[in-house]
Amino acid sequence: MKRKFMTLLALSVMASTNMKADEGMWMLNNLTPQSMKIMNGLGLQLSDKDLYNPQGTSLKDAVVSFGGFCSGVIVSPEGLVFTNHHCGFANIQALSTPENDMLKNGFVASGKEKEIPAPGLFVDILQYTEDVTARINKTMDKIYKKTSKKQREAYGENWKIQILDEKIDSIFEEIQKEYSKNDPTLKAVVSSYYSGNAYYVSVYKHFTDIRLVFTPPQSLGKFGGETDNWMWPRQTCDFSVFRIYANEKNEPAEYAASNRPYQPKHFAPVSLQGFQMGDYSMTLGFPGSTDRYLSSFGIEERMNSINAARIEVRGVKQDIWEKWMNSDATIRLQYAAKYAQSSNYWKNSIGMNKALKELKVVEQKQDLEKRLSEWIAQDAKRQKEFGNLFQNLEQAYKARKSDFYAYMFLGETFFSGSDIFSIANTANAWINATDEDYKKRLVESLEKKFKDYNENVDKEATTALLEFYGKTVSAAYLPDFYKTIQNDFKGDYKKFVEDLFQKSVLSDAKVLKDLNADNLKKDIMITYINQVRDLSKSLNKKNEQQAYAIAENEKLLCRAILDMEEDQAHYSDANSTLRLSYGIVADYTNEGIRQNYFTTSQSILDKIAQSDSISDYKVEPSITAMLKAGNFGPYKDKRTGEMQLCFITNNDITGGNSGSPMFNGKGELIGLAFDGNWDAMSSDISFTQSLTRCIGVDIRYVLYIIDQWGKADHLIKEINAK
Ligand code: ARG
Repeated sequence: MKRKFMTLLALSVMASTNMKADEGMWMLNNLTPQSMKIMNGLGLQLSDKDLYNPQGTSLKDAVVSFGGFCSGVIVSPEGLVFTNHHCGFANIQALSTPENDMLKNGFVASGKEKEIPAPGLFVDILQYTEDVTARINKTMDKIYKKTSKKQREAYGENWKIQILDEKIDSIFEEIQKEYSKNDPTLKAVVSSYYSGNAYYVSVYKHFTDIRLVFTPPQSLGKFGGETDNWMWPRQTCDFSVFRIYANEKNEPAEYAASNRPYQPKHFAPVSLQGFQMGDYSMTLGFPGSTDRYLSSFGIEERMNSINAARIEVRGVKQDIWEKWMNSDATIRLQYAAKYAQSSNYWKNSIGMNKALKELKVVEQKQDLEKRLSEWIAQDAKRQKEFGNLFQNLEQAYKARKSDFYAYMFLGETFFSGSDIFSIANTANAWINATDEDYKKRLVESLEKKFKDYNENVDKEATTALLEFYGKTVSAAYLPDFYKTIQNDFKGDYKKFVEDLFQKSVLSDAKVLKDLNADNLKKDIMITYINQVRDLSKSLNKKNEQQAYAIAENEKLLCRAILDMEEDQAHYSDANSTLRLSYGIVADYTNEGIRQNYFTTSQSILDKIAQSDSISDYKVEPSITAMLKAGNFGPYKDKRTGEMQLCFITNNDITGGNSGSPMFNGKGELIGLAFDGNWDAMSSDISFTQSLTRCIGVDIRYVLYIIDQWGKADHLIKEINAK
């Protein structure tokens, strides 16, 4: 009896270590035979060459970086791209007007000539990735050797990382130029991996003529809105469709009416066959940033300064924005993208702090750090290499604690909170800019800011934000104009702001008609934003040594983990480069409640029935009728007999992965990743095997909407799902 128990235990331990292999965001250019073995074992029927093959054609050729902040997938021989609705959102908003509100009504281009160019949008397709670590290290070693003892002493303790910081941009630039010099359509980007312990260059084809083809109304594309954001179960039909255009040589080109649909090297076949629990699933996409190697001290800072500032300041601002958005349709459209963007990581930060506490992530990190300290202490060479890394980290984080806290609140309040301060910040950059190209971009940015701005909304928000900042941080962190508030306005923030909006030309879009640097320089808002900037700069300067110590010792910590666990494969933190995550379709159980791996058409009808009290569940009556009619045809799941809407897998994703294709074992498209789940919002810092899930929209739901809501037969034909 006892032995049997032992065997069972051993088996379950094995199963769980095997499972752990699913975690990770792996680079495609160095997939190891071990990883391939695990993936093939889980059900992948492709070889490493089928996934990544710069010399030939491979799956990666169908995956795109969308606008630099999302992912997408090419699904037709004519460059048709699927991404998320929330990825296309800002572009759809920019192309909308109150008379032609495509966010609200959706959009279907009835033919290619009706597809709408999205100015400023780009799509990058990875050609290949190369390791440039040795080259960069060699360059740096030469520079270090040339640095005299006197210079080193002048820099202080963390001299190496300071010199690196000074030189790295120009070293990156030189490599980037070299990798793109023979072909102006290429864009090369060097990125740092493993907390600065490695460098790779990624070379992309950079496409700039991108056109909007299809979007569902936001009642579907953003179904569930902020109520359901970061949650499972979901019914959001989070997709939009764009097309890449190229010149007559099929190469990237600026927008021209004569450009033609891009013919990709590879496009993803779309599957109507569905999937079931345990089936292989993999995402390819461009995750933005994770902090899986971050020290316990860094995690605490993330919770108490970065997340705290986001949660508190955005909370104040969003309440006011929401009130105005609910009262006026024009304001709702103007503030839609800004609100969604702000609220997304506001809610994420709330969930992250909660999950970090509940899942005891700091304690887990401390355990790892304890093991690392012991491992370092065992060996003189290790002691020399890693020195006092934990003490250094603890000291540096502690030394900057109160400054950093104020710095985060300052940024959230003045640079990305109040509109008039953010406008003044851009106007100030314009006054000081000399480069004509840059000046032009700043004017465009100002135009965009004013397009999405309402004076009354911002007066109220700025008043509340100034007051909140004033009572949250200590007096040492108040910009000078707080004295004016006290002395001239007797602490009346509202009067101060009224007066400010009256005096400053930056409170009104009219200023754009005649931007004049000399006049602007005299504007009160330029004086005030410079007080904020000076304070922010002085906090930065004061904590420069701590920042270097943190960068240096976090880098050492990452290297120590890689060395101590050298028998295990380690993926690098996300950095907006192409990554693969493998795993399976998987349900989960949290707090005793099992969550099924898919949602059905009935579940959206159930939510719509609650839309009187939850406005995020409102859809147009015609959509409810369509869903109730139930003509799901080929889009219905053959096994369950249900129309399945969204599903979950244990793929490892984060922001930036939005729009990532979810492939089955044959490399066919089964879904688009669009979110993570509340139960494990700590996943950017720590992946919890039993709880962390990737939420995707089932590709059959996408096709159903294109077909039944959009009546876009031409797209259904072009996509040719099987
Ligand atoms: N949380 C999702 C992501 O970051 C979706 C964000 C957009 N949706 C929203 N309701 N704000 O990928």
